[in-house]
Order: sequence, then C-alpha cells, then structure tokens
Amino acid sequence: MTRKVTIKPSNHVFHVNEGETVLDAALREGLVIAYGCRHGSCGTCKGRLLEGAVDYGVYQEHALSDAERSAGMALFCQARALNDLVIEVREVNAAKGIEIRTLPARVHKMERAAADVMLLELKLPAGERLRFLAGQYIDLMLRDGTRRSFSMANAPHDEAFLQLHFRNYGGPFSDYIFGRMKERDILRFEGPFGTFFLREDSTKPVVLLASGTGFAPIKAIVEHVLHAGVRRPMALYWGCRTRADLYLNELPERWRREHGVRYVPVLSEPLRGDGWSGRTGLVHHAVMADFPDLSGYQVYASGAPAMVEAAHADLTSRCGLPEDELYSDAFTPYVPTGGTA
Ligand SMILES: Cc1cc2nc3c(=O)[nH]c(=O)nc-3n(C[C@H](O)[C@H](O)[C@H](O)COP(=O)(O)OP(=O)(O)OC[C@H]3O[C@@H](n4cnc5c(N)ncnc54)[C@H](O)[C@@H]3O)c2cc1C
Ligand code: FES
Repeated sequence: MTRKVTIKPSNHVFHVNEGETVLDAALREGLVIAYGCRHGSCGTCKGRLLEGAVDYGVYQEHALSDAERSAGMALFCQARALNDLVIEVREVNAAKGIEIRTLPARVHKMERAAADVMLLELKLPAGERLRFLAGQYIDLMLRDGTRRSFSMANAPHDEAFLQLHFRNYGGPFSDYIFGRMKERDILRFEGPFGTFFLREDSTKPVVLLASGTGFAPIKAIVEHVLHAGVRRPMALYWGCRTRADLYLNELPERWRREHGVRYVPVLSEPLRGDGWSGRTGLVHHAVMADFPDLSGYQVYASGAPAMVEAAHADLTSRCGLPEDELYSDAFTPYVPTGGTA
C-alpha cells in the first residue's frame, strides 16, 4: 500500500511504497531533502513529523535523542510511513533532477599519498558520464555485496576520472583497497548521493573545515568555485594529526598563492621531526579563534564525525553561526540498517 507524504512549507507531495523509507521515496520521485549518511548516524535528514505516524527504523541515539523523538522529530532516511504523513524538512532544490545511477568503473590509478591514505582514480565506461554536484559522494560496492560511502574529490567539470581519497580504517573495505585492489579492477558504484555542496544562492563568505580525508569533498568544492568563477571569500582549515597526514598540502598552498584562498593547516599531534611551526590543536578551535563572530558566514565541515559534531555545537553556540548555515558531511562508519528499533 502506498502512503501520501506532504512536505511543509512547500506543499510538495510524494508517495512512499510499503517498506520504503521516506527519503528513498522522495529521491525516487525527484524531491531532495537534506541528507548525508543514509544510515541513521549523521542526523542531517532530521525533520519534524507534523501529522501521521512512522516506524522510526534503526538509528544512532546521538543522531536523534529520545527527547527529540518525543518532541516530534524523526530521521527520514530511516522512517517508514505507517499512514499518510505531513512533514517539515529542509528541501534542497539544487540537487533536483540529478539521477542516482548504478555503474561499473575501472580502477585507473592508485597512489599511496600517506601511510594510511590512498588516492584513487576511477574511469567510467566509454560514453558514460555521471552528473553530480561538487561535494557529493558515491557508494562503492564489492563483489561480495560490501558497500561503503566515499566522497568524490573532483569537481564535475574535471570529469575524466572520479577521484576518491581513502583512509585505512582496518575494516573489510579498507582491507580490499589497501591490500588486494589492483589497477584495472572493476568496481560497481551507486550515486551521486548527499546534499553536501556549496549553496550557490548565497553570497555569504565561506569557511571550509576538513579533517583527514574530509579534504576530498572540500577539494571538489574549491575546484568548482575556482572553475565557475564564484566570487565569495573562502577560508579553508584542514586538520590532521601530523605533517605527513596533510597528504595534498601543496594543492591548497597553491590555491592560496594563485587564487587568494586563505589556507590554514592545523596539526593536533605534530611530531618532533615535523619541524612544525604552524597552528596546532583542534581544527575547529582554530576557526573559532580566527572567526569569533560567524553570524554572517556559511560553514562547510567534512570528515571525522567527532570533529563535525564538535564544530556544530561550538560554532553555533559560541560564534553565532546560524544553525541552518552549517553544512556537513560526517564520515560516519557504515551501519547496516533495516528492521525496527
Ligand atoms: C557520506 C560519507 C562520505 C564518506 N566519504 C569518505 C571519504 O571520502 N574517504 C574516507 O576515507 N571515508 C569516507 N567515509 C567513511 C567510510 O565510508 C567508512 O569509514 C567505511 O566504513 C570504512 O569501511 P571499512 O570496511 O574499511 O571499515 P568498517 O568495517 O566500516 O569500520 C572498521 C572500524 O573502523 C571504524 N570506522 C569506520 N569509519 C570510521 C570513521 N569515518 N571514523 C572513525 N572510525 C571509523 C568502525 O567503527 C569500525 O570500528 C564516508 C562516510 C560517509 C557516511
Ligand atoms: S541520519 Fe539520515 S542521512 Fe544521516
């Protein structure tokens, strides 16, 4: 049985099939609501249930607290409609009409950029193109069905290869990438997903905040901005543990020299041998020190979930960043979902 869902305040309507999540149904019908991980971990798809009832699905407590659930909130990447619904969510028109596809891709180039970081270039089949927005991600799938999310590090205009930056987390996907993968291997992927991309209807200055391989979607966004000639002041803060972890440091240094992008690398645990004289500590603390008033800014944060969560809490409560001007892509670990909590 299908259920009708009405989105407020737009009054857009779509229909959810039995067993389908509200987010999947919206995407299938070409409506995009803000979302990230799609497995109940990041909280980006959180919205208000104004009428109707849902099965809340499986999710992490930190993404939706019991108090928020009692106050009528739900995670729409997990929620399944039990009757007709009226919901209030953030809609994202810029991603409308971009088809989510499943395609094969060939491993064109692998490059070890740091001890636990691999850069990968994937080649699509001849004649195929992937439409996406700079900052979005894909799900890579192995033959055995293992599936993980990775952000594309290239902007759409630079379409010869899909570029990905992998950290070694020691799980099955990392074992494949860092242990068994060879050039010319064929992978399948689905995408593009997510709503982490520059909101181009704003003229506000931008602070970009990356930790570790969270640099990948930020790289795509900066390259898109430089290519498209978007004229908004940009400051990029990249946090890593040691100097070796700033695996593409030359690139943002070049953006700084050639394009006036303010670039501040921040190391949390520099080694004595690093000879580091730059900023140290938590990357979002460096932003807070330099931008005590963020009320007129947009902030884009990606990478470690702990960094994204802390940046969200501190930048909104202590620097006046409006809640709806923080856009984030938390690299939450994969959690199998389905069934009910
Ligand atoms: C939207 C999105 C975009 C992402 N983009 C990227 C990307 O561009 N580059 C990238 O390197 N990763 C990215 N990730 C994270 C990546 O998808 C996961 O880390 C993936 O689970 C790793 O797979 P695995 O099989 O190696 O490890 P898993 O078996 O999934 O995990 C192994 C262990 O590592 C821990 N772990 C896994 N991921 C993380 C993490 N991110 N932080 C802390 N602990 C973790 C797990 O809890 C577990 O204990 C992204 C995640 C999301 C949701
Ligand atoms: S919690 Fe729903 S998209 Fe992450």
